Amino acid sequence: MTLELQRSAVACGKVILLGEHSVVYGQPALAAGLARGLTLHATPLPDRGAAIELSVPSWALDLRLTPDTDHPVARACLEVLTHCDGPVTGWRIDGEARIPCRAGLGSSAALTVALARLALGPQASAEPDLEEVVAASLVGERVFHGTPSGLDSAVAARGGVVAFERGASGSGEPIELGAPVSLVVIPSGIPRQTGALVAGVRMRRDRLPTVIDPVIGALGQLVTRGRAALTAGQLHVLAELTTVAHELLSALGVSLPELDLLCAAAVRHGALAAKLTGAGGGGCVIALCDTRAAAQAVVTGLRAEFPALTSAPFFVEIESGQP
Ligand code: MEV
Repeated sequence: MTLELQRSAVACGKVILLGEHSVVYGQPALAAGLARGLTLHATPLPDRGAAIELSVPSWALDLRLTPDTDHPVARACLEVLTHCDGPVTGWRIDGEARIPCRAGLGSSAALTVALARLALGPQASAEPDLEEVVAASLVGERVFHGTPSGLDSAVAARGGVVAFERGASGSGEPIELGAPVSLVVIPSGIPRQTGALVAGVRMRRDRLPTVIDPVIGALGQLVTRGRAALTAGQLHVLAELTTVAHELLSALGVSLPELDLLCAAAVRHGALAAKLTGAGGGGCVIALCDTRAAAQAVVTGLRAEFPALTSAPFFVEIESGQP
């Protein structure tokens, strides 16, 4: 065990482009990192035996990490630190987040990846090994979400655009894009629990396996086609697949009328297509646009139409490598 932490570490947020939920059943998925989703800074406490203090003000998180702290974040963080053979006392950790929490943008994976980097950093000769970081993050993600596929941890660690399949390489495979992709991320402001949504899909599949398995298979086929479209820069093919993905996710029971409304509004303001992203049941919608200007117009139109949204829609350009 080391008593050291690296002094700072970053992790990406994420949007799932195609393949959420079906990825849990072994189908492929495509996701993109949101750069510098979370940065953690570690400072030693004068009392090296004192409980670790964790604070991320924009997530309203201010915790002491002790085995008695009744909070999933405290449990998950201690699990990650223990898995990494890192210190479990004696540090203050401050986080600066550029993504909201519990919004389907990978906040828990960003936290566990950045924390794993803090703990593994002093033990590595250069950068900590990507697969080790993802494996450590997953230990924490299991506390939050039960049986996550690992997709969120892979994208949080790797950034860029990632193709992921459960059981293959833990950190996924980077994808080269034929052209950058302009997206608008639209937070619905409706909180949700990933674990509960994944469990809901599982129950629907258990009740109706012959109906739901083909839907899951179709989502997987759609990802294979989407990967080819992304690498060839075929935005209009990707747009059609995005529309179909939202409809198939609705068939799994994870959309909401509010998310359908945001998708329709994004298209009305000029997006090529829109879908829920992540577990659904709230969280965010992503809208695919053919140009930056079109994306800016979608942002402006949505901000005017939905002034009460707690977080405003924002523009992201997805590129190969770190976006
Ligand atoms: C959540 O961000 C993505 C899901 O596919 C769950 C998972 O992959 O573990 C819904």
